[in-house]
Amino acid sequence: MDLRKITESNREAWNQASLIHQKNRKLNLREEFAKPGFSTLDQIETEALMKIGLDGKAIAQLSCNNGRETLSLVNLGAESAVGFDISDEAIKEAKNLREVSGLNCKFVRTDVYDIGEEYFGKFDLVYISIGALCWLPDLAKFFELVSAILKSDGQLFIYEAHPVLNMIAETDESEFDSENPFNVCCSYFKKEPWITTTGLDYIGGTKYDSKPSYSFSQPLGDILNGIISNGITIKSFTEYGHDISESFKHLEKDNKLPMSYILTGEKSAN
Ligand SMILES: C[S@@+](CC[C@H](N)C(=O)[O-])C[C@H]1O[C@@H](n2cnc3c(N)ncnc32)[C@H](O)[C@@H]1O
Repeated sequence: MDLRKITESNREAWNQASLIHQKNRKLNLREEFAKPGFSTLDQIETEALMKIGLDGKAIAQLSCNNGRETLSLVNLGAESAVGFDISDEAIKEAKNLREVSGLNCKFVRTDVYDIGEEYFGKFDLVYISIGALCWLPDLAKFFELVSAILKSDGQLFIYEAHPVLNMIAETDESEFDSENPFNVCCSYFKKEPWITTTGLDYIGGTKYDSKPSYSFSQPLGDILNGIISNGITIKSFTEYGHDISESFKHLEKDNKLPMSYILTGEKSAN
């Protein structure tokens, strides 16, 4: 299956999910973003961002969904931010939140693989967060784009779910074994995508008949090599035992597996 068919099917699946998320979300983001300084970023992430510094920066968020993180970054000191996402409905909500917040953000509906030359060399920081990478069928091509839109000494920040989690079952999956929740039931090196037709409601936990969505298990090596081979030097890589995917909260107390990571990098000036 070619890249376009995958990302287009994912667009339709995320359009359905966005409308369901808007209904099921308890937090009223319109009210919250009307208040000055509101941020949805957690403390660990906020501290890591403060370390690299946001003040005065132009930021791009790739796969920004409804823009809650993009807006938060500006509330935390960035000069401006552009959020890119393939979902029409997510971008509609993001524009709506930008309006109530009055923040210096712009939202663009696009497949990340189609981000055009007008954005090349424009950003001080590319920000990527939870649940963005697994939908991308070609990581090498993605990081080529990341590097292209960064200024010559621009920075990369990733806060993502650890790919080790792809080996174990979520509680609502048939492979889940409550006696042995750490059971390895999927290859870390799985090449074929997961195809989901029961929806992507990670907020309300509901199931519905959905357009097929395609997600990928991406070994850490593929992520790191994608970054390195596109002229970005890795400055730090920190693994954490807390879950940011909301799917493995029940395993946090055991502190056995890396569940999330923060990676920072810098494009080598050329
Ligand atoms: C799990 S959500 C990201 C959530 C975000 N980090 C947050 O916490 O709000 C994944 C997003 O990736 C977007 N996406 C998937 N494939 C994409 C692509 N090829 N180009 C742009 N966005 C894409 C989806 O539309 C969806 O909004």
